[in-house]
Amino acid sequence: MKVLIAGKNGQLGYELCRTVPREIKLIVYDRSELDITDSHKVFQIISSEKPNVVINAAAYTKVDQAETEKEVAFAVNAIGVENLAKAAHLHKSRFIHFSTDFVFDGKKSSPYLPTDTPHPLNVYGASKWEGEKRALAATNGKALIIRTSWVYSSHGSNFVKTMLRLMKERSEVGVVADQVGTPTWAQSLALNTWAALKKPSLCDVYHLTEAGVASWYDFAVAIFEEAINLRILKSFCRVNPIKTEDYPTLAKRPTYSVLDKSRNLKDLRFKFMHWNESLKSMLSELAQSKYSSSL
Ligand SMILES: NC(=O)c1ccc[n+]([C@@H]2O[C@H](COP(=O)([O-])OP(=O)(O)OC[C@H]3O[C@@H](n4cnc5c(N)ncnc54)[C@H](OP(=O)(O)O)[C@@H]3O)[C@@H](O)[C@H]2O)c1
Repeated sequence: MKVLIAGKNGQLGYELCRTVPREIKLIVYDRSELDITDSHKVFQIISSEKPNVVINAAAYTKVDQAETEKEVAFAVNAIGVENLAKAAHLHKSRFIHFSTDFVFDGKKSSPYLPTDTPHPLNVYGASKWEGEKRALAATNGKALIIRTSWVYSSHGSNFVKTMLRLMKERSEVGVVADQVGTPTWAQSLALNTWAALKKPSLCDVYHLTEAGVASWYDFAVAIFEEAINLRILKSFCRVNPIKTEDYPTLAKRPTYSVLDKSRNLKDLRFKFMHWNESLKSMLSELAQSKYSSSL
């Protein structure tokens, strides 16, 4: 099976590349080789490569910056996605795309179902929701859209690496304790995406995160404890719980964005660990790399 990945240098792109099953022939593109907003290039590459599956790991993910770069966010997350979906559909390739918990407004107090109506609070979430709709429209509903949340990896920038840096530099950090979701290791997401390839009829929206629930504060405390345990960090840093209002950001974020995964447990039997176990695996990988000395 031939699989084309757009956005190979992102967290998910990187994890997809390093976990690829042996039987898959992978063709990968970074932004400089395939800018998904360039519809001509998208059609040209997909028609010459003729992959069985197109996976879109490319996205505009700067949540706060998107508030002042609405056009760019929509160009990548909506029009770029539509370009890939149309080209994939035209060449009879399956289209797999990723979206976010930030399509929801966080007003629920029980996990969001794939069928719940999105109501994004910020430009990033709105652009991702528009991308979902365009992907489904362009493929007659055949696209597989995987919504995930709070993604981190040893590759790229993310909350875990930001926390480690701040915890190394400071004796105290304040972390928001009133926003709740589920941290997800990009490697878990990648492994389950490869598993989804084995179910060619799977389409529409699925939720894929690790198991469990955490606030950013819980997540930060777990990062600190494990980083000390693995000697990535060697000195104490107090983690203080703060309120969203004490950490103003350009983009509003949902206070509750836990995703319900029962649909994928039923149809796919995806395998996920508790978020704390996955965090330990990722940090152990960092501890064995040169990362600790570069902190
Ligand atoms: N990160 C999260 O916390 C999170 C949470 C929920 C859902 N998601 C979703 O999960 C998916 C994977 O996210 P991620 O964390 O892996 O994102 P990421 O690390 O930010 O990677 C995104 C990649 O897309 C590339 N890209 C940006 N614009 C492009 C364009 N016009 N054409 C081609 N490539 C382009 C970027 O290239 P450059 O490296 O050149 O910028 C980057 O390599 C995305 O759909 C995202 O919306 C992420």
